[in-house]
Amino acid sequence: MTQSPADLARDTRALPAEHPLSAGRTSESPLVTTYQGVRGDVTPVWFMRQAGRSLPEYRDLRVGTEMLDACLNPEMASEITLQPVRRHGVDAAIFFSDIVVPMKLAGVDVSIVPGRGPVLAHPVRTAQDVRALPTLDEAALAPISEAVALTVAALGDTPLIGFAGAPFTLAAYLVEGGPSKDHLAARTLMHSDPAAWADLMQWTATITGAFLRAQILAGASAAQLFDSWAGALSLADYSSKVAPASAAALSSVHGLTYTAGDTARTVPIVHFGVGTGELLKAMHDVGADVVGVDYRIPLDEASRRLGGTVTVQGNIDPALLAAPWPVLEAHVLDVLARGAAAPAHVLNLGHGVPPETDPAVLTRLVEFVHSRPTV
Ligand code: CP3
Repeated sequence: MTQSPADLARDTRALPAEHPLSAGRTSESPLVTTYQGVRGDVTPVWFMRQAGRSLPEYRDLRVGTEMLDACLNPEMASEITLQPVRRHGVDAAIFFSDIVVPMKLAGVDVSIVPGRGPVLAHPVRTAQDVRALPTLDEAALAPISEAVALTVAALGDTPLIGFAGAPFTLAAYLVEGGPSKDHLAARTLMHSDPAAWADLMQWTATITGAFLRAQILAGASAAQLFDSWAGALSLADYSSKVAPASAAALSSVHGLTYTAGDTARTVPIVHFGVGTGELLKAMHDVGADVVGVDYRIPLDEASRRLGGTVTVQGNIDPALLAAPWPVLEAHVLDVLARGAAAPAHVLNLGHGVPPETDPAVLTRLVEFVHSRPTV
């Protein structure tokens, strides 16, 4: 934020001139300006997992194609990304991919089992397993850059959010070998072999940072780091064993700048986790601009824990999407009122859209929020 436009022109970290932020297509959008802390006339809204199984057009397109194959097919990934924007009129698209895609592109044997989640053929349990992890050749990210470029060309002035999994959440899958409830094996490794853990964190930070950077360079106007399972950690473990790697991952997208008017700005970064009420401040401190809050803690309390100076995102309880409309409406009004305690607020769910959600409810919710002035 401190560079002059003249400095920027010499700065190799400046985004390309044709990037939607540099070209002015998305730099004044409600999403980007709200992420940057400016409260506008309406509250921007998008939904985690807005693309996916709640949409019949998604289910139709996915017939016969495996999840990770869909992610690596640029036309298909782009089409799936656009579907919820067309249908719901949300304020942002989120790139259709998965947090395990960079491991797959590095050559790790991972697949996504429907109804279960990512499963590894060979869990990473020892220092030797960590040393054997392959390096990610940046050229392998070409299908990602291509899908992002196709998507932003179709989105016009609607911003695309790029995303990546945080090192701990990726490591939780790598060490467990699949989904788990308490992430015990990962939490054991961080204490029983701290050196192997540090190496694993460094590996995940490198691949996930490269994945995120590729999306921004190809046209994404914001970035979200998902540390979905960080809520399994104590603050002490998070701060000493995980936060440095999350900061390293984000450092690969820090300082990607553009100019709007006469000021140099950076690409906004959101950091989200589930059950992370005790970690909110630490998650902000790794280098995020905005903190995503799950449904377990009200936004006014989250904002207080963040010192009252940080833009928040969240936190409609996904369970209420299936409740009668008046119940959902009252909850949304409460979320908006509590979000007013923060400097700025982007409305979202407290976790992803459940697959059985009626998409008409999401469309109605977007219309409702857009019809109300910000508080
Ligand atoms: O719309 C969006 O939000 C963008 C797409 C997106 C997906 N995964 C697509 C997906 C995003 C942002 C993710 C991130 C992701 N993947 C996270 C972090 C966010 C979170 O939910 O906490 C995590 C933990 C994963 C790992 C993962 N991938 C899980 C737990 C699952 C669900 C398994 C299942 O079938 O229930 C996946 C698969 C996955 N990723 C699907 C989608 C649309 C479902 C696969 C399908 O449609 O067949």
